[in-house]
Amino acid sequence: MGPAAFVLRGFALPYVDELLPAIAGIEEVAPFRNMVTPGGFTMSVALTNCGALGWTTDRRGYRYTNVDPDSQQPWPEMPVAFDRLAREAAAAAGFPDFEPDACLVNRYLPGSRLSLHQDKNELDYNAPIVSVSLGMTATFLFGGQERTDKTAKVMLYHGDVAVWGGEDRLRYHGVMPLKDAPHPRLGSKRINFTFRKAA
Ligand code: SIN
Ligand code: FE2
Repeated sequence: MGPAAFVLRGFALPYVDELLPAIAGIEEVAPFRNMVTPGGFTMSVALTNCGALGWTTDRRGYRYTNVDPDSQQPWPEMPVAFDRLAREAAAAAGFPDFEPDACLVNRYLPGSRLSLHQDKNELDYNAPIVSVSLGMTATFLFGGQERTDKTAKVMLYHGDVAVWGGEDRLRYHGVMPLKDAPHPRLGSKRINFTFRKAA
């Protein structure tokens, strides 16, 4: 997608049997919820987190927290398989020392979308973003350094891993409204994990 931005097709497929039960475990402790943006909009994407830090939003802003704001309990630990997948994908894309401390888990239903944004709430932009797609196919929009820059449309299929870092780290990106084309294993749902080094 760019000099330091890649889609690793099918990279997560060997991990799926470990990832799906792990998601169920996370959901039990920290359920998916539709959070409110600082502008007052309820996100169509529902989210939860695992790892030391979790990304959250409310009327006061976007931030990382070490507890789930709904339960005041720490976010579920990052499953070993998640951590291994994130590091191996980063290394395969040329980022050998990635140490994720945050994993945002996004759940898309038909019609869910994510408007163009930059991932800017992390302290260290040297670490890449590693984003894993499971379930229904998404049309990912990958733009430039400015919101108004032209965007490329990239299809993300079950098992694909997108990695962007280096000079591409702050590029705008988003997801088009999800079409309802049920996935054989996950049904009418897309799950995305986004690994970051937040602190
Ligand atoms: C994100 O930017 O947080 C998610 C991207 C995706 O769902 O593919
Ligand atoms: Fe993002």
